[in-house]
Amino acid sequence: MQADQIRRTFLRFFEERGHRVVPSSSLIPADPTLLLTNAGMNQFKPYFLGLEQPPYPRATTAQKVFRAVDIENVGHTARHLTFFEMLGNFSFGDYFKKEACAWAYELVTEGYGVDQDRLWVTVFETDDETIDIWADEVGIPRERIVRRGREDNFWWMHVAGPSGPCSEIFVDRGPEYGPDGGPAVDEERFLEIWNVVFMQNECDEHGNVKGELPKKNIDTGSSLERVAMALQNKATLFETDLLRPLVETAESISGRIYGQDDTTDVSLRILAEHGRACTFLIADGVLPSNEGRGYVLRRMLRKVVTHARRLGVERPIMSDFVERTVDVMGEAYPDLVSNKPFVLQVAGSEEERFGATYRQGIVLFESEVEKAKKESSQALPGSVAFRLHDTHGFPLELTVEVARDAGLLVDTDEFASLMEEQRRRARDAARKGGPVESVLAEVSAVSGPTDFLGYERLSSEGRLLGIVADGSISETAHEGDRIRVVLDRTPFYAEGGGQVGDEGVIRTPGGVIKISDTKPGPGGIIVHEGLVSSGEVRQGEEMEAEVDVPRRQATARSHTATHVLHHTIRQFVGEHARQAGSLV
Ligand code: SER
Repeated sequence: MQADQIRRTFLRFFEERGHRVVPSSSLIPADPTLLLTNAGMNQFKPYFLGLEQPPYPRATTAQKVFRAVDIENVGHTARHLTFFEMLGNFSFGDYFKKEACAWAYELVTEGYGVDQDRLWVTVFETDDETIDIWADEVGIPRERIVRRGREDNFWWMHVAGPSGPCSEIFVDRGPEYGPDGGPAVDEERFLEIWNVVFMQNECDEHGNVKGELPKKNIDTGSSLERVAMALQNKATLFETDLLRPLVETAESISGRIYGQDDTTDVSLRILAEHGRACTFLIADGVLPSNEGRGYVLRRMLRKVVTHARRLGVERPIMSDFVERTVDVMGEAYPDLVSNKPFVLQVAGSEEERFGATYRQGIVLFESEVEKAKKESSQALPGSVAFRLHDTHGFPLELTVEVARDAGLLVDTDEFASLMEEQRRRARDAARKGGPVESVLAEVSAVSGPTDFLGYERLSSEGRLLGIVADGSISETAHEGDRIRVVLDRTPFYAEGGGQVGDEGVIRTPGGVIKISDTKPGPGGIIVHEGLVSSGEVRQGEEMEAEVDVPRRQATARSHTATHVLHHTIRQFVGEHARQAGSLV
């Protein structure tokens, strides 16, 4: 069975049994506690928790998921991926164990045609009820039903949320893949293709059960790629019709042939898998960056460049993987087709940027490897890994990997302490702020926060509470002095939310200050920056503040216009178009 057919068969099977076919949600989760969508149930979490009323009692999906925890395994095993499709059927307080187990068995044996003698199941160690269902109602021989502990058979999101004991179905791939004895003995031979979670508990962020959910629910997850591997009788996921075309792309880019040499195969698999995963991440709006999901993407794109270089390919290659991924999966995921130009652009520019520093980094790396070898050292100093990271953009994981190939270990402890030192320096610098910051903090300690009047009025009277000139607090300032002043209340808008600060004038009985910018300061003060244009101003004086009205109105209009423009761009270009900042 081809993957497209497996997906269709699954969804139709459950649709015929009263499930609503719901589209995949984005890889960028609505749930702020998650980095990336990591399970089919993510979009239904509020239903399980009883926070929202589900619009249907049963649902079925083919969901895009991403598991960052498996990045390091990819390419080195037969069955790990970062991105995959998870087929699922869900019951929101409707049916429970009996139906879920019976339907799973029916679909796997009759729908997919897997011989029942090849099936094993596991259950949570104390779950006698499910053992009896599998044995007495479904008809699985008791010797192929295995109890397993919390590690294997209790599912939770790895963040706070719904959870529960689970039961998994395994297919025996035969003696050529390992020893007999079931999944507890060998998970290469016995391949997990189905996980049904009996969602009945709520967990805290450490995975400790806090209590019962309002209802008993079903959450099933079945990796399309694993099912394809079992049904297509392939040794690894990379030979299925989902991934083989991408491995072919890697072969044709590099002129290498898959299956001839282990090291080359690892690189070909990584290229295929990461190329596909990055395409999906970018299509859903993830952009390369130095933190969070953007960093996951950046690391993977950089790994693609590195593995391509190792196979002797110097030219940019992401576009080949994007095109091929869209060919293979565009029908099931039409968004991929419409977002292709955007994906090509983002992937291409990141690839180009890293490609430029890669060469210098690798020169440094190689000379350090030589040095280590000369000194008969087994380790690459953490300081080298740090320099590669800091100057050349090599993620640590990448350095560890290339070092491993050169027969060296990286001193990751030293690397970690250098990173920590750098963070500490950055923190200290931020805490201290510039010299002006600390003076302003002193002013704010005396003045208290400034009252902002500028939504209702554009001029007002008040008192001049603080003057900072030449980096220190002053009692007076004279014509020609550049100063910062703090008032008790002000109509001046301080730069923020993408809108620049106001300009205008402040008049005291003896002088005039022309204000050229307004910024937020420490402790809720508003800081007016300007030039004393005539006379003398003194701390504590009464004053009158007047915003440059035409300028403020023009700025406000432009600010509104950026929001309108942003909204419009999203309508035409897609939801991934995001405004990163503005200064209007
Ligand atoms: N939530 C479970 C999993 O991800 C079953 O869908 O494996």
